[in-house]
Amino acid sequence: MTTLSFRRSDFPEGFLFAAATSAYQIEGHAHGQAGRTHWDSFAAIPGKVVNGENGQIACDHYHRWPEDLDLLRDAGFDAYRFSTSWARVMPDGRKVNAEGLDFYDRLVDGMLERGLKPMATLYHWELPAALGLKGGWTIREIPERFAEFAHLIGNRLGDRLWSTAPINEPWCVAWLSHYLGQHAPGLSDLGAAGKAMHHVALAHGLAIEALRSTPAQNLGAVCNMEYAIPHGDGEADERAARTYDGIYNRWFPGAFLKGAYPEDILEGLAPHMPEGWQDDMKTISQPIDWFGVNYYTCQRLKATDGPWPAHDMVPGPLPKTDMGWEICPEGFDWLLRRTIRDYSGDLPLYVTENGMANPDRADVPDDARIAYLDAHVDIARAIAAEGLPLRGYTVWSLLDNYEWALGYGKRFGIVHVDFATQTRTPKASYHALARALAD
Ligand code: FCB
Repeated sequence: MTTLSFRRSDFPEGFLFAAATSAYQIEGHAHGQAGRTHWDSFAAIPGKVVNGENGQIACDHYHRWPEDLDLLRDAGFDAYRFSTSWARVMPDGRKVNAEGLDFYDRLVDGMLERGLKPMATLYHWELPAALGLKGGWTIREIPERFAEFAHLIGNRLGDRLWSTAPINEPWCVAWLSHYLGQHAPGLSDLGAAGKAMHHVALAHGLAIEALRSTPAQNLGAVCNMEYAIPHGDGEADERAARTYDGIYNRWFPGAFLKGAYPEDILEGLAPHMPEGWQDDMKTISQPIDWFGVNYYTCQRLKATDGPWPAHDMVPGPLPKTDMGWEICPEGFDWLLRRTIRDYSGDLPLYVTENGMANPDRADVPDDARIAYLDAHVDIARAIAAEGLPLRGYTVWSLLDNYEWALGYGKRFGIVHVDFATQTRTPKASYHALARALAD
């Protein structure tokens, strides 16, 4: 497949097409006096990240951003979803590094000069290491510090940002990193996870509150979702899938948009949450202006006899991406509709990430990525055509980049990056998107 079957004109007027990246994954943290992050610390522990790779150089976007913004403009994107690194702006989590703020200033102006709407995410995972050492997301001080960072960014850039979301994928920040142990700080501890699951939600609320006193407008939230499928037919696997769905897809949307964590998940998690969490629900659920969903795949769940959450993930039969993730567009359809029905209602909804990793080999053309994007964009098209408030679609990612614990081997870019020379080469999917967006 070399062309996409949709055209921009198949979408309602004003539907936004965007591409996304994140700071630590592309910028090159060695430059500009950025502070050490907990991802630098995590990557330095043998066995945590493939080849011990980190984001010190990454795509050298810190120096090459004009070329990268040109690529976005030339493909015809309307918006660019990027993130601001807390450790670049506040190397120890508090003290301001003027060079870091200046970088984002130039970057945002560069977007506006090219007609790109700046969609900012304030936290895409690189916690300043100094705050990690204090206890990171397990302690209440971190959401409070984060609100200061949000305030600073809102005051400096808010007049030019098109939208701002405090935290990318709270599930990853809390559960993947403190219970599943796969991301920094790499904990596998329900006690830590229970605290992080609340403090990350609180950080969202405190940041929205702080941003409201700055020029920043159009404030939202970005949650990732995975479609949970019971492995077998029985009631036990159904419950396992429900629990997975609750932790993954209902916990943060419930808190942000309804002011309540899901009851079925509280049964397992409440004993591990910080005392007095109930008092924060109002802060966490203050009004936002839009909601974003990141979607990649589905997950099959099998019940176990172990302690809560008592489930294991098992591989499924669908074709898989280079991440080993099943390609499951029907889960995308189901989750977007359920999110609108049960959580976001009339709020503008955006797909804030979707895409696939493909191996970097001459004998693997980019067709699979084009087919993946086509199937998922078509679902967005159908939902928007029904008059539901889906207002945009964002591809992950503009560039091949640092794929966290999997290092530089997993390539999500619509633009190829040669990490030895930093040469950018648009892939077939980039050209296909540019053609689709032109009319
Ligand atoms: C998402 C992350 C993004 C990238 C993609 C593949 O969960 O937001 O940084 O790693 O997955």
